[in-house]
Formats: sequence, C-alpha cells, structure tokens
Amino acid sequence: MEIVKTKISLQALLQPHRGSKLRIALVPTMGALHNGHIALVGHAKQLADVVVCSIFVNPTQFNDPKDLEKYPRPIERDTVMLREADCDILFYPNVDEMYGQNEQWHLDLGGLDNVLEGLHRPGHFQGVTQIVKKLFDAVRPDVACFGQKDFQQYKVVEHMVNQLQLPLTLEMCPTVREPEGLAMSSRNVRLTELGRQQALALYRTLQQVKADVRRQNLVTLQEEAIKSLENSPGVRMEYFAIYDADTFTEADNSAPDRPLIALVAAWVDGVRLIDNLLLQ
Ligand code: PAJ
Repeated sequence: MEIVKTKISLQALLQPHRGSKLRIALVPTMGALHNGHIALVGHAKQLADVVVCSIFVNPTQFNDPKDLEKYPRPIERDTVMLREADCDILFYPNVDEMYGQNEQWHLDLGGLDNVLEGLHRPGHFQGVTQIVKKLFDAVRPDVACFGQKDFQQYKVVEHMVNQLQLPLTLEMCPTVREPEGLAMSSRNVRLTELGRQQALALYRTLQQVKADVRRQNLVTLQEEAIKSLENSPGVRMEYFAIYDADTFTEADNSAPDRPLIALVAAWVDGVRLIDNLLLQ
C-alpha cells in the first residue's frame, strides 16, 4: 500500500492507472478504523481495480470543538488494518493540504441539512460536503463507498452529486455491527463496559419498530419507540424519527407502501451515538 499526503503525489500515483483505464474507488474516512470501514474497502475492491482510502479528521464538520479534540487518531493501527484489507493507496493529508485560509463556501443541500443530524449539529453537513467534494476532486474516483450507518450523510452526498452532476457513482454499504447489535463506530472506544450494554437499547428499539411496522400506525410506533428510549437507563435520546428513505422527509401515514427508515441519535456515557434501520 502506498501512503501519500499531498494531492500532487496522489495524482502522480493515479495517473498511470487512469491511463490504463483502470477503475478507481474512494472510501473516505476519518480514521480510527473498525470493521465497518474495512467492509467498505472490501466492497470498493469488488467495484474497482484501485482502491483509495482517505483518512482525514475534517475540522469543518465538527460543531463541538471538544469532540474534534477527543476524536481518536490511531494512524499506525489504521495503516496496518488497511494493508491487511489490501487497500492500494492511503491518502492522509493534513489540514493545510485540504483547506485554504478562511474558506467560506457552502452548497444548497435542499433542506437535507435542516433536519435530524443537521438540526442537532449545525454546519455539520456543510463541512461534510466541503471535504467530500475536495476528496472527489483530488481522487476523481469512478465510484465512492459510504456506509448506511450515516444514512443522512449518504443522502446529502447523493444530493451534492446530483446537483453538481459529478461524474461518479455512489455505493451505500450495510451497517456493520458488533455481535450484540451495537453499530460499529470510531466513538465506541469511549464507551465504558456498562455504556456498551446500555447503548444496545438503540438497536433493540429499532428492531422492535421494524417488527411492529405492519401492525401499527406510524405515529403510535414512533411514540412507543420514544417512550422505550426515554425509559432506557443511561440513554439520553436526542431524536427518534421515521422517515421516507427515498425523499428523506417525515414518513406519511397515508402512504403505506413507501420505503421507510427509522433513525435515532442518543447520548450514552457522554458519547453521541447514531443508528438507523430500514423498515421496509
Ligand atoms: P467516518 O465516521 O470515519 O466514516 C467513514 C465511512 O464509514 C462513512 O461512509 C460511514 O458511513 C462508514 N461507516 C462508519 N461506521 C460504519 C459501520 N458500522 N458500518 C458500515 N459503514 C460504516 O463519515 C465520515 O467518516 C465523514 O463524515 C467523511 C464522509 C469521511 C467526511 O469527513
């Protein structure tokens, strides 16, 4: 695996592959890799000849400076994991390589940034789209892989790709979970053993909602899920919602055949966790 820190050296590495018409895949990450990230690399390898993984803890998407500061950065371990996953290129730039002084541009995200994650993390999706656009420009991939774990992020990136007519396809890969059901996340290392147990309430609630979706109306379903989360010890719910997975707007009770997704965000042990489950 080649490790490069600048866009120029990345271009130099990729140019011959482009010349030989090889397909290039990008897996953007912020590092502190786990099996969810590694599964994305595995998917990318099936879709392309050359896989680039980026590791960049993007400051513009952190609305909480403490979260940015505390974000784990185990680059040596990450490098070993990527080598074992047979990743071809690790792009590992620093902040000056990716941002100019006082960059202030924003995209119209069609309102996707005003709900759920966007509402609770002001500016987050503007930061995500800034860096993802820059990574797309640097790598010029044929395909980019994202996880369902961050479903709203996927919708936001999809919106950007459509708005700007970017010449690549997006791939959404399933959420990888711990054996007990907790969605893997770089932030899970900050949970205590008790917190890990308490955090299982998120997935349990999502599964319950999925089991009941055909039997109850969506309003009752949502109310019961919220009640169950509020009664879960150690869990402080931020939101729970049932959305139309296609339009990413609140699900409509009177349109029963739409694709539905339940999404949750909650604090456990001072760690903010998100999860979701497609209901139908
Ligand atoms: P990060 O949280 O490191 O996640 C990188 C990619 O891994 C995202 O597409 C995310 O959805 C996916 N992922 C995380 N946990 C997963 C899991 N348990 N199963 C499957 N996929 C999972 O998301 C970001 O970084 C950043 O916002 C980024 C897109 C890199 C822009 O900075």
